[in-house]
Amino acid sequence: MQVKIATLEDQGAVCRLWIMLLTYYEKNAAPEVLERSFRYAVEHPQKVLIFIILIEGVVTGTASLHLGHYSTWNDNWYGHIEDVIIDPAYRGNGLACALLKEVLQAAREKKLSRVELNALNDNLPARRLYEKLGFTTDSVTYELLLN
Ligand SMILES: CC(C)(COP(=O)(O)OP(=O)(O)OC[C@H]1O[C@@H](n2cnc3c(N)ncnc32)[C@H](O)[C@@H]1OP(=O)(O)O)[C@@H](O)C(=O)NCCC(=O)NCCS
Repeated sequence: MQVKIATLEDQGAVCRLWIMLLTYYEKNAAPEVLERSFRYAVEHPQKVLIFIILIEGVVTGTASLHLGHYSTWNDNWYGHIEDVIIDPAYRGNGLACALLKEVLQAAREKKLSRVELNALNDNLPARRLYEKLGFTTDSVTYELLLN
């Protein structure tokens, strides 16, 4: 098992996982949009890091760490974790846990004060995963689509 930051050569594998995640959320995105997002991330590591977990060289999961949120209350920076997914064929083996531990370690090394993430209310596997890692919640998330 190996966790690393994705490079351009991982585009196909990561976009395949992103499409699975979109399917889970019953959303669509054009492949070229996902590819452009992937390349943007790889080319702007000061803004976002895409982590991948590999088993015998095969990319089996991914998670992204967004770095640039500023906390006005505390005068420090915090992060946001998105796009957490493990290939269904590899679930239940501790991979998401291992992947996110590396993401959290990177966040600490970047001196982020905290990380946030969103999960659907009924996504119990994800919620149990995050709670096992120490995440807590006392809030709800709202969103407003602007276009
Ligand atoms: C959620 C997801 C990332 C978990 O990946 P995984 O590699 O199977 O998770 P792990 O094996 O590391 O499990 C770690 C912990 O998560 C929880 N968990 C994982 N799968 C679970 C399931 N099916 N039911 C209940 N709890 C589960 C457990 O607490 C588990 O710890 P335990 O094995 O000691 O009980 C994976 O199911 C997935 O990709 N789901 C679809 C995409 C998704 O929902 N992403 C998150 C969006 S917020």
